[in-house]
Amino acid sequence: MTVSPASPIAPAALVSPDPRVPLQAAPDTTSESYRQAYSRINGVVVVGETLAHHHFRRLARAIPDDGAELLRLGQMEGNHARELSACARNLGVRPDIRLAKQLFAPLHQLFRQCDERGDITGCVVIQCLIVECFAVAAYRSYLPVADAFARPITAAVLEDESQHLDYGEAWLKQRFAAVQAAVSTICLQALPTTLTILRALVDDMRVIGMDPQELLASFGECFQEALETIGYGSSEAARLLRRAMAT
Ligand SMILES: [Fe+2]
Ligand SMILES: [Fe+2]
Repeated sequence: MTVSPASPIAPAALVSPDPRVPLQAAPDTTSESYRQAYSRINGVVVVGETLAHHHFRRLARAIPDDGAELLRLGQMEGNHARELSACARNLGVRPDIRLAKQLFAPLHQLFRQCDERGDITGCVVIQCLIVECFAVAAYRSYLPVADAFARPITAAVLEDESQHLDYGEAWLKQRFAAVQAAVSTICLQALPTTLTILRALVDDMRVIGMDPQELLASFGECFQEALETIGYGSSEAARLLRRAMAT
């Protein structure tokens, strides 16, 4: 997957509940509102990367033929968690890990359930398509408003995430006929929980200068592309995405 600019294909599902919170082009990273918003967003980023690290380790056990590669990808996620923690530390901000764990719990639980019943397809879709598209969209949206310390770190992480998406796409594409039904099922279950995480952070994203609608559009574009890459027809992929996002 190549990292490309976002296109505006978002459904109108992610409107800020508080229109008084303005979008900011050049936010003051020292203001209390910025620091509080950054704490919650960075918490989600760090917890998301840490879970990704665990998910790839579980995938390495489930797909032993690709074990070394999956451990390598998992190691990258562990590095991301450390590097992105440093971005908060650089601003003197402590990430809100407790909130982030609550927000990620349903998605992580779904991954664990798939893992426990041997549903490797479900695990690959959750981590390598959904979480990775989420990460790509989030970092792509944050990059233009990142501070000078966080920008190069975010750009490097963004490149890495596209490799992780590539792994999932290739694995699913190779066995598309056998896994298509399972892919659709898990998308309908897991995408709504992902959108719940995004919705919880809408106002915080605006405070740090991100555009939540653009992020959602970028996520939709990334996910549609991923579905088409693995074998869905374009209208079939769009229909699945619409159904999942409307749930
Ligand atoms: Fe990552
Ligand atoms: Fe990743």
